This record gives sequence, structure tokens and C-alpha cells, in this order.
Amino acid sequence: MERENMNDGVFKEEWIKEVQEAQSRAYTPYSKFNVGALLVTEDDEYIYGANIENAAYPATICAERSALVSAYSNNITKFKDIVIVTDADEPTSPCGVCRPVMKELCLDVIPLYITIMSGDIINT
Ligand code: THU
Repeated sequence: MERENMNDGVFKEEWIKEVQEAQSRAYTPYSKFNVGALLVTEDDEYIYGANIENAAYPATICAERSALVSAYSNNITKFKDIVIVTDADEPTSPCGVCRPVMKELCLDVIPLYITIMSGDIINT
């Protein structure tokens, strides 16, 4: 599928608050590791994702896939940015399941921003 890069390369400070809001909705009774994802659509709307765990671990849905599945389910498929937040001191790389999903559904057109507890922003 042809995709156009709509990213203007500008990180908006308000995204941190928005992605932390998403993170607060995580369901993590097992790992207690809350992850938030924020997708910025071509219309500058926000789609939120959080990790939703399950006792059957493979059924756990990461924040990144949670946001993308929500967007696609609502017929929203064009994005400018994706922002991920965790409470770790170091940047957390997306997992091996999320990587190909993001590659196919959004990362061929947009950069990935990861924010961490210290407030640092890492642009990958
Ligand atoms: N997790 C995410 O949501 N995104 C990532 O990029 C890495 C890991 C979640 C899955 C699980 O609920 C918890 O973090 C611990 O691995």
C-alpha cells in the first residue's frame, strides 16, 4: 500500500500529557508495567492505547497494538506520529510482536517517539 509521510518532524509537548493519560488506563495486574501509546492522526486527532494484560500471557495486548487496532477498527488508518510512554528509566523497545505490526500499519511513514519517566524524549 502506498503511504504518504505526513510527519512534520515537530514533537508537541502536549503529547506527553495525552500519552500519560493513555498509560493510566493500562490493565497490568501481572507485570505492573504500564505502557501508554498515542497515535496522532492525519487530522490531528488522538487515538489512545494501553497495555491490557491477561493471565494467559500471549493474550496480552501491548499499548502499541492496542492503539493501532482501535484506530483501524474505527476506519482511521493515516497517522502522523506515534508516541509511547513507560515508567522505566531507560527507553523500552517495542516487543517482537508489535514491531512488524507497527512496520506494516504505521512505522513506514512515521517516526516513533518514546518518552520515559525522566521526561526525556527519544526519537527512533
Ligand atoms: N509492553 C507494551 O505494552 N509495549 C511494549 O513496547 C513493551 C511491553 C507491555 C506488555 C506487558 O503488558 C508489559 O508491557 C510487560 O512486558
